[in-house]
Amino acid sequence: MTETAVIVVAAGSGTRLGRGVPKAFAQLAGATVLEHALRDLAWLAARIVVVVPSGYEADASTIAVRAGVTAQVVTGGATRADSVLAGLAAAGDVRFVLVHDAARALTPATPFDRVRAALEAGAVAVVPVLPVVDTVRVVDSGHPAGARETGGADETGGADETGGADETLGAIVDRSTLRAMQTPQGFDAQMLRRAYEAAGEARADSTDDAQLVQALGEPVVAVPGDELAFKITTPADAERAEALLLEAGMAGSGADELRTGIGVDMHAFGGDGALWLAGLEWEGQPLAGHSDGDVVCHAIVDALLSAAGLGDIGGLVGVDDPQHAGARGEVFVRAALERLGSEGWTPVNVAVQVLGNRPRIGPRRDEAQRVLSAMLGAPVSVSGTTTDGLGATGRGEGVQAIATALIRRR
Ligand code: CTP
Ligand code: MG
Repeated sequence: MTETAVIVVAAGSGTRLGRGVPKAFAQLAGATVLEHALRDLAWLAARIVVVVPSGYEADASTIAVRAGVTAQVVTGGATRADSVLAGLAAAGDVRFVLVHDAARALTPATPFDRVRAALEAGAVAVVPVLPVVDTVRVVDSGHPAGARETGGADETGGADETGGADETLGAIVDRSTLRAMQTPQGFDAQMLRRAYEAAGEARADSTDDAQLVQALGEPVVAVPGDELAFKITTPADAERAEALLLEAGMAGSGADELRTGIGVDMHAFGGDGALWLAGLEWEGQPLAGHSDGDVVCHAIVDALLSAAGLGDIGGLVGVDDPQHAGARGEVFVRAALERLGSEGWTPVNVAVQVLGNRPRIGPRRDEAQRVLSAMLGAPVSVSGTTTDGLGATGRGEGVQAIATALIRRR
């Protein structure tokens, strides 16, 4: 049994942030809120479940990879509690569950460690808290109707809740008795499941997960929270988070992720038909092969796949497949580009060197580069060399090509 699962709830719509995308997918200092939130979890030995809005599952998987974590992505629900439930269902057989808001994207590792330590010491529910720093009063009268909380401590909406002109104030509440709740909240996994079951549909009204466990009569333990674990809710919060990220040098570079790859192919002269190389038809004896034997295109395909860590041409297409008999190199290049595209990769540039006595590359270099560059949608350079009479290519038995590819994704 895995000890701990962390459920990162990121399925909210981010209405108050108002970016027009779900909050977890809004950009903050060059990376999404979710990427910032996941980064610190890479060091936590835990199963990670990320709960996202329907339609954002693939995006979330990509973001998790960029954040350096292995995460299971599941679809959330209409309320935060529904999203937690979806995460719980996916968390499987674990001893502890930590429920964390993706919106608390700057949370450092310390609250995670403190919560887990308290669980290991025997607590069944643990919440990181902060003291309340402002003087707090209750509203005495004139509290505007409809401005009450609507399903969660954080769910209140309008500015009219923060001191309208028609309000009069009552007693000061002794703030030393108050604590502000943060996440990650930690639980004995069985206890949290039981709490959600007991709450049933009423879970939608819960302001936080610990409250549901408390309703079972179980004690909730507090550990110190962290100023950096504030919840990004409004545009002002996002500005503060962005400034802190930039200051800490933790901004996403906003730069592309870059990878290089290498590919080699070689075919013997033989068979009949035309000689195809670098996407061009040449004078002379053809290269043997099930396809058209274009070693330049095949080396490029392997270089692209190698850069993306997606295997090689044999795994991409059935190279012996009857449908590929005599197939142009371009067919394989297109298939490779499509495969890379499905993972967000595009080529930056490709360099190919052709080893062989013939055909002579020089006279048609520009033409080959034009055709291949158009095929790739990126600059392709082509060079040629003989091997001083050495090896199979030196003996004129065939042609070899070596390619490198640089690819990128956002
Ligand atoms: N959350 C969720 N599923 C929901 C609602 C909220 O997973 N149906 C998550 C949010 O993604 C966030 C956390 O719960 O990480 C706290 O919620 P909140 O700050 O209210 O985020 P949003 O609901 O996205 O924002 P808003 O209320 O402004 O729309
Ligand atoms: Mg909300």
